[in-house]
Amino acid sequence: MRNRLPYLDFIEKELQLPETELSQPLVIDLFAGCGGLALGFEAAGFRTVGYEKLEDACATYRHNLLGSCHQLTLIRQQDLVEGAAVIIGGPPCQPFSVGGHQLGLRDSRDGFPIFIDAVNRYRPQLALFENVRGMLFRNKAYFEEIVIALKELGYIVEWDILNAAHYGVPQRRERLFCVAHRGRWTWPKKTHLNSPYTAGEALGELAFLAPLDSKFLTPSMDEYVKKYEIASKCIRPRDLHLDAPSRTVTCRNLSAPTGDMLRIQLPDGRRRRLTVREGARLQSFPDWFEFKGNEESQCNQIGNAVPPILAKAIACSVKAYLDSSEQPASEESPLLSQPIQLSLKLF
Ligand SMILES: C[S@@+](CC[C@H](N)C(=O)[O-])C[C@H]1O[C@@H](n2cnc3c(N)ncnc32)[C@H](O)[C@@H]1O
Repeated sequence: MRNRLPYLDFIEKELQLPETELSQPLVIDLFAGCGGLALGFEAAGFRTVGYEKLEDACATYRHNLLGSCHQLTLIRQQDLVEGAAVIIGGPPCQPFSVGGHQLGLRDSRDGFPIFIDAVNRYRPQLALFENVRGMLFRNKAYFEEIVIALKELGYIVEWDILNAAHYGVPQRRERLFCVAHRGRWTWPKKTHLNSPYTAGEALGELAFLAPLDSKFLTPSMDEYVKKYEIASKCIRPRDLHLDAPSRTVTCRNLSAPTGDMLRIQLPDGRRRRLTVREGARLQSFPDWFEFKGNEESQCNQIGNAVPPILAKAIACSVKAYLDSSEQPASEESPLLSQPIQLSLKLF
């Protein structure tokens, strides 16, 4: 029998789903995708209800998670499930990512007015969103407006850029996390700061195999990648390096044959694209987690997700916060109980 990878044991143990009980706090997951963020919350002992517009992503969520996922296009004034202690979400990040041309407020795909409106109407004890780190830089003014809106609702707002590798994900993925809370919030401890999992530890023997349906780089693609690397002054070729955490897994570099795509160099020198399962491993999805839809759809779901292991670390902090004696609202942060008309023109 082959040796099991310690990394697989780690993620399977961390992401075991407990029996659902009605006493568990309820989480509304907006823009839920395939449920990467929700998986971490369920593993930490929350019940989740997702809202997501894409059929495949909803099907993945329903197939793997204990909670339900409503397939709909979210709008403001949307009726959501009652009684949630927490609202989480990954509002669409196209407006902020370099690939999305950073249109910010002018981008109709913007999900923040919807997220803030839900927080205003349902007043959870804590709200949390994730986005690309670029939001803090070129879209800083917009980010500040979001923070002001959450403060107007009576929350204390804190944010940080977390690197998934520091929490046991074999990937250097940096994302912005912003938390609106009423009392003392503590960020999760970095458990793997000095000893991150490497891509090799996550993939094991998969990294040396060529499955029958492998997509090898053609000579012209090899040439293209070489030119790309020279143009972008890459010192180390951007193949997957098994001795280190992987670079960020995105929809684009997992599914599209571009110069930036994630690929493995096999012992015989051939280079192939990563498989869906390899992308999922690098994002810390356990092997039992099945993705629905065609290959491109699965890659998008994976690239869009919050790595579940990082999500669990955050969810444990949320649990500790809910359990803490700081509830309900402290005097410095009187939480309003009725929806209000926010003063910002944006919302
Ligand atoms: C960044 S992904 C969320 C990933 C998710 N948090 C996870 O961890 O798997 C954003 C998702 O929002 C969905 N979405 C975008 N606009 C939406 C809308 N108006 N209503 C519902 N879902 C929407 C997209 O289809 C996409 O799946």
